[in-house]
Amino acid sequence: MPSSRTVLVQPAARVRGRVRPPGDKSISHRYALVSAMAEGTTTIHGYSTGADCASTLSCLRALGIAIEQIGHDPRRGLSVTVAGRGPRGLLAPSSVLDAGNSGSTMRMLAGILAAHPFRASITGDASLQRRPMRRIIVPLQRMGARIESSEGRPPLAIEGARRLTPIDFEPDVPSAQVKSAVLLAGLHAEGITRVVEPMPTRDHTERALEAFGAEVLRAGTAVAVRGGQRLAGRIVAVPGDISSAAFWMVAAAALPGSEVTIEEVGLNPTRTGIVDILRRFGADIEVQDGRATAGEPIGSLTVRHRGPGTVEIAPDEVPGVIDELPVLAALATHGGELRVSGASELRVKESDRISSLANGLRGMGAEIEEAADGFHVRGGTRLRGGEVDAENDHRLAMAFAIAALGASGPTTIHDAGAAAVSYPEFFSVLESLRA
Ligand code: S3P
Repeated sequence: MPSSRTVLVQPAARVRGRVRPPGDKSISHRYALVSAMAEGTTTIHGYSTGADCASTLSCLRALGIAIEQIGHDPRRGLSVTVAGRGPRGLLAPSSVLDAGNSGSTMRMLAGILAAHPFRASITGDASLQRRPMRRIIVPLQRMGARIESSEGRPPLAIEGARRLTPIDFEPDVPSAQVKSAVLLAGLHAEGITRVVEPMPTRDHTERALEAFGAEVLRAGTAVAVRGGQRLAGRIVAVPGDISSAAFWMVAAAALPGSEVTIEEVGLNPTRTGIVDILRRFGADIEVQDGRATAGEPIGSLTVRHRGPGTVEIAPDEVPGVIDELPVLAALATHGGELRVSGASELRVKESDRISSLANGLRGMGAEIEEAADGFHVRGGTRLRGGEVDAENDHRLAMAFAIAALGASGPTTIHDAGAAAVSYPEFFSVLESLRA
């Protein structure tokens, strides 16, 4: 496993350069899943090079979908073709499906499997096996699927229904994965399935369904689909991942004299919370809008250091920066202050991202207080560096590396190979940006 890799990160005076981040992880998963249910062949350019998105492809292959890699551009990522098999076109798998580290794969695929009248089992690595699945099991069972789990955790055994009942569903937690699982099942239900979210979450599923020809009804935080709609394969390009770009945006905001331009990055408003927060922290950020692709806005961002500030992230902002919170904690270790609340979801991510983050940063010399639903970082003292364990969590491995840039000495990151889950090129890009 590459995740056992240990990396030594030296401090950096500043970062400068241009980066095209890997294809957006959330959008890559959705284009693969939606194209499998569509009629005809889809070509996806810029598909994420991360291991999570490879897990989605391997599960789909095991379900009878022909997928070919037709290119690998070092800047833009993978090009793949997916031969869609239409609605309810998946075939019964002959072995247990493996979602690896990817909660998105397991939860969203479960929504599609709920409509297929065969039994499929899906599992994942040790981290995924600890993650909560009741949030999708409950609505999918209400729709008619049979799902067995290990007390609400993976592995899941899903037996889909030939006829699915549409539901009106109000999830307890704001989660795009849950919303997506229900909508993807709803596409096969007999009537209109509606999800009303407690707070808005990323809307890539809605945009992807529209791009592939479905009608999606939206009003406020409610989103609905009519079952029985047909999807048509097409050519799509995945924008760069703003959650991967966030590491360079934070490094540029943290280190005096820095300037980094992020090119061809997705600027979907449900994902750009990081831009607002970095601006509040004091960073200078220029946004250049580009053309949208398949309904997803895209553009470039230039980030310059302008001195640290004090930022408070309120609960209603959390869904918009849920994956960026570890690197925002790293930002405040460079100076300034950051307080986050309403983020208890961090405890059920790839690791317990509140306690693992606090342990790691504290080990490097940071002043960080943990709360049940967040944390508070005070960046008054320079980190000394040291040894940290990423606990097999990709975003922690990369967040620790960004914190390490401001330390007085080097930092050894154990399990740093976990970065490959979303950003295999991370450590080489880091070296190329030192200036
Ligand atoms: C994702 C949604 C978020 C996010 C995850 C990707 C998605 O998870 O943390 O990295 O692609 O829908 P939740 O749906 O659990 O909030």
